[in-house]
Parts: sequence; structure tokens; C-alpha cells
Amino acid sequence: MKSKKHLPLAFYSAILIAIAGCKPYSAVAQNTTVSVSTSAEEQMYRPNFHFTPKKGWMNDPNGMFYANGYYHLFYQYYPDGNKWGPMHWGHAISKDLVKWEEQPIAIYPDNDKYIFSGSAVVDTNNTSGLGTGKIAPIVAIYTLHDMTKEKENKIDVEQQDIAYSNDNGFTWQKFKEGNPVVKNPGIRDFRDPKATWDETHKQWILVLAAQDRSQFYKSKDLKNWEYLSDFGKNIGAHGGVWECPDFFQIKVEGSNETKWVLIQSLNPGGANGGSGTQYFIGDFDGTTFTLDSNFAKRVEKEKAVWIDYGKDNYAGVTWNNIPSADGRRLFIGWMSNWEYAQDVPTNTWRSATTIAREIQLIKKGNDYSLISNPVKEINKYVSKTIKGKNLNGKGKLSILEPGKIDLTQAIVNFNLKNLKQDTYTFTLSNAAGEVLTFGINNSDHYLFLDRSKAGKNNFSDKFASTITKAALEGNQKDGAFKIILDKTSIEIFYNNGEKVITEIFFTNQPFTSLSVSSNEGVELSNLVLNQLNIN
Ligand code: FRU
Repeated sequence: MKSKKHLPLAFYSAILIAIAGCKPYSAVAQNTTVSVSTSAEEQMYRPNFHFTPKKGWMNDPNGMFYANGYYHLFYQYYPDGNKWGPMHWGHAISKDLVKWEEQPIAIYPDNDKYIFSGSAVVDTNNTSGLGTGKIAPIVAIYTLHDMTKEKENKIDVEQQDIAYSNDNGFTWQKFKEGNPVVKNPGIRDFRDPKATWDETHKQWILVLAAQDRSQFYKSKDLKNWEYLSDFGKNIGAHGGVWECPDFFQIKVEGSNETKWVLIQSLNPGGANGGSGTQYFIGDFDGTTFTLDSNFAKRVEKEKAVWIDYGKDNYAGVTWNNIPSADGRRLFIGWMSNWEYAQDVPTNTWRSATTIAREIQLIKKGNDYSLISNPVKEINKYVSKTIKGKNLNGKGKLSILEPGKIDLTQAIVNFNLKNLKQDTYTFTLSNAAGEVLTFGINNSDHYLFLDRSKAGKNNFSDKFASTITKAALEGNQKDGAFKIILDKTSIEIFYNNGEKVITEIFFTNQPFTSLSVSSNEGVELSNLVLNQLNIN
């Protein structure tokens, strides 16, 4: 990838398309029309509670913040087609991070100048001077991607622009007189700015993805940015271009120690192929991000540390301006993968977001890790709870028979005890014979998820060609699972979110049963099946 910027764009695009599974910045499918959704499609595939646009294409979440009672979510959006196309910022709001209401499009492209990913901050002290004095302005910073320059094989295709809102994020004006706020420095992939207030050093910080590294900038007013440093060349995973970083300070759970976290997506080269999101933990002196020495050893050993091992959690970043009384670090990702996102069998819309998650930093011995768990707000939608009996035995044991819980919106919790050197396979199934399996291989020490028999998959040879694996540190004695099921997705949170696997699937009928099997015998306890009722 290093020599890419010296190559003609056609070559670059061909390589990119071949490696990245058709990331089509130039091969835009603008002629794909979106027909009105049939009720069959709605019923089969529209998630019950993960956000999807009513119609059109969606990719990365962008510019999330909290203001005046609403969590705002923006996203890469092409309203007129179901494949990637001229990028807008779509918009949705929620009072609780679970139920989303789509809003009018927030930011439109100017002809061939697409509005790529970025972030937004609530400028409480009006440091930008873009406020009118009554309420805090909200400043969005995003990449302006010039398609004409791209077609002309230019290098300086991407620059960072701002737009602002003086009505708490509902309508936006581009900062025409001041853009770009960060010029292209001669780097072809130079995008996805994420701004944050650095309280320790009293400055705005911007991190953006510059090909094979993250770059840091600082500012006093969100309009003038000064380059500080970069991080990541030859560190962590580099199977593809780095995209969509995030950078924030966070407290270690149960202590007053703080660390800085850099989240860094890349495509391809993810944990299980295609798009994936890694993270780094370290310190920031106001200029330079330095990896924590123990975390550096882990990165070296594991090659990369991932926020999610599933194939469908990409480009995730965190919310700005969560009130300090709340204090959570909240994250959401795009629940798809560039390897097949444009081919999945929905017509009216394409893609959903993950469930919103709380990210926490934990320390075990000298090792720091992020854990992520679904936001607690989802629990208020539990309409029925079934507590299961403990299960003990060999072979296949039924956990849930058809008819008790509708698995198209449910949370399932259980613990496994006294694990042997054996494989524990959980199977979700339906009357059509479709199965989704997941579990623990405790001989070779990994979690797994296999969607190869879970309905439609012939739309892409990448979709179900491999079993997803997440390595575990040695023999597991016990394991705790929390599983969130929506119609077309599973999100597995293992051991309080120490390992997460998120994937989508396209069954022809809903799953109705859940069972577990192992050769040596299963001991399953604390089974709680929660019916959700979100629609
Ligand atoms: C990530 C990404 C970003 C870019 C956006 C374009 O999926 O490639 O790097 O800004 O999508 O839609």
C-alpha cells in the first residue's frame, strides 16, 4: 500500500477493488433505483430495533453527539440508490439509543463533492465563534471528497471541511468562507476527521486517517488546525487503508487512572477478513500518542487488538458531549462489511447500525483492555422474561423450544461452567432447517460463529466462506454469554464484553429454537431469555 500514491488511479482502483472487495469510490452504481419496499421484504429483513434508513444506502455512522435530550446519529447516506453513491450525511435521533427516528438529510454533497465521514462536537463555549449567542453551536468536521479530482487521478482528492448548526443539530450550514479547515498535504487517503475536546491540555484535538497511520492536529477554535504528530506506521494491523479513527481519554474502571484510546478501522485486513476495527491504548502528552508498553507487547503478540471479532462492525466511533452526570463512552458501528455490503439481499435499504454500546477500560494486572456491552437502555424494552432451568448433560440439550420467545428480538444470557477441553456448540435453528452456530472451542481456545447454513448467502462468495474466530487466552473454566438477536443479526458479548462478535445473516424464516451440544457434557446455568418489544 505504501507505493499507492505514486501509481495511476486506475491501477490503484483496480487493486483496491480486487483487494477490498469492491470499495467503489469511482465505480459508483448510481443507476440502482430503489423501489418501494414490499411487505415481504420488510417482514423478512428489516431489523426490529437496529437503525436502518427507510430507503437507500447507508455506511459509516458519523458525527454523533448528545444535545438537548437527543442522541444524534448521522451516517454516510445515498438516498437514491441501494449501493454506495454520492455521499450525504443522513440523520436520525433517539431519546434512548435504542429507538431511532429518521430525520431529513443533514448535509448534501455539492455535485461531485461528496460528504464523507467525520464527526461533530458541541462547542459549548463557542470557541469557533460560529454560534449566534443563544445556544451552543454544533460543529461538524468531515471529509470533502472531490470526485472530479479523483477521476483526474489527482492526489489531493480529500480535504477536511466544517459545517455548523445553531439549532441543536437539526439544520446545518457549510462554513463556505472558511473551508477547507485542513488542506490536503499530498496524501491520497486523508479522511474521516474525529474531533474531541482534550480537557487535560485544554485544546481541541483532531485525529484523521492518513493512509497507513493516524494523524493528530490541535486547534483553539475548530477552524485553524495545526499538525502535531502521527501514529501507527508499522504498528497493528495494516492489511488495508486506515479509516475512521476515534481518540479519547477514559478512566480505568474502579480507579482514577486515565488512559487514551485510539480506535482505528481498516479495510480490508479486519480480524476475520474485510473491514475491521482495532484499538490501541496509551498516553497522550498533548502532542504525541505513545502506546502503553504492555499494550505494545500485546499488539506485537496478537498482531492487532480488535474491538469486535465479527465481520459486521465497522467504522464505529463514539458520541460527543455525553453529560458528565452520565459519563459513559458510547459507541456505535456500521453492521456490515465492504466485502459484501452492496450485495446483501435487501433492495429498499442496505445496512443497519450495531446496537449502541458502552465502552469501558479495564485493567487486569498490568494489562489494559476495552470491554463493550449493549447500552443498559435496551433493558427497558424487555416485555417478558423466562428464567431457564440449569442444564446438565451430554449430547444435544434444548435451551429453547419454539413458541416461547420470539427470537427476532431477544436478549439471551447464560453461563457455562466447568468447561472441559471440548467444543461447546450453540445452535439457533428454524423449521426450514437453517442453523446459525456459535460457541467455544476450548481445545484450541477460541470463540466461533458460523453463518454458512443460516439462510441466503450466495449473493457473495465472501459472506459465509469462513468461520469467524476470536482467540481466547488459554483454557476457559467458565464462560458468560449475552446475546442480542434482531431479525438479521446476532451480537455476542462474551465475559462481560471482553470479546465481542457481531454478524448479520439472512434466514428465510425466523429462528425458533436454541440448543447446545458437547461431547464431554454441558453445565449451563443462569439462563435468562428476555423478550424485547421495541417496534
Ligand atoms: C469507511 C469509508 C470512509 C469514508 C466513507 C465513504 O467505510 O471508506 O473512509 O469516509 O466510507 O463513504
